[in-house]
Amino acid sequence: MNLQTNKIIKSYVIGGKPTQILKGIDLSVQSGEFVVLSGKSGAGKSTLLYQLSLLSRPTSGQVLVNGIDMATLSDAKRSDFRLRKFGFVFQEFALSRDLSALENVSLPLMCQGVSFKNSRQRAQSALEAVELGHRSDNYPEQLSGGEQQRVAIARAIVTEPELLFADEPTASLDTKNSENVLQIIKQLQKKLGITVIMITHEEQYKTIGDRVIELEDGKLI
Ligand SMILES: Nc1ncnc2c1ncn2[C@@H]1O[C@H](COP(=O)(O)OP(=O)(O)OP(=O)(O)O)[C@@H](O)[C@H]1O
Ligand SMILES: [Mg+2]
Repeated sequence: MNLQTNKIIKSYVIGGKPTQILKGIDLSVQSGEFVVLSGKSGAGKSTLLYQLSLLSRPTSGQVLVNGIDMATLSDAKRSDFRLRKFGFVFQEFALSRDLSALENVSLPLMCQGVSFKNSRQRAQSALEAVELGHRSDNYPEQLSGGEQQRVAIARAIVTEPELLFADEPTASLDTKNSENVLQIIKQLQKKLGITVIMITHEEQYKTIGDRVIELEDGKLI
């Protein structure tokens, strides 16, 4: 899946006046590429990721996925597109506390209408892919931070997305777990041919991708 943007501007009203957070972003990501998005706090990294992943609509400019202008899709079509084609990994894992690892990972498949049995089987395989097959019955609070993030990665890949978005996936983890989580993302990208767009501001992790894009004050540098 390739992704392209054309002069994306995103403004928010701050202190009563419209303020540009993204100031005309032109970006092109090729199918299968692993792109690292970097820059200081407040530079607009998460805001850019929200536009690329269709969680938000830019004030102006276009997001093209496989050449299709995403602005032409209804909200319902955009949600459906996200559910079927994109995977998300967040800084804070965002797992349901009341669901086991297996149930958490099954959830996106259940939302897609996949049968219960089939969902469970695929969720188990996804957990095995992140080396947590033996912890499928555990609840998030019974797992370490690194393990919880691996469950979140399993949940992100269980639907076989074409594009994986990760916003500071290692920010809540220690060095050892960070490296482990990044290696898992890298292996999945290589093995499954997924396109990855990952935010990190940590210098030592920028080299994990094929390319680094630096954002400064709402512009690419
Ligand atoms: N909904 C909003 N309303 C107003 N301002 C916003 C909104 N969302 C983001 N901003 C502002 O936009 C700027 C960029 O925010 P963003 O979250 O994209 O930064 P970031 O690069 O991801 O930073 P960090 O590394 O701290 O996560 C910040 O100044 C932030 O306050
Ligand atoms: Mg951010």
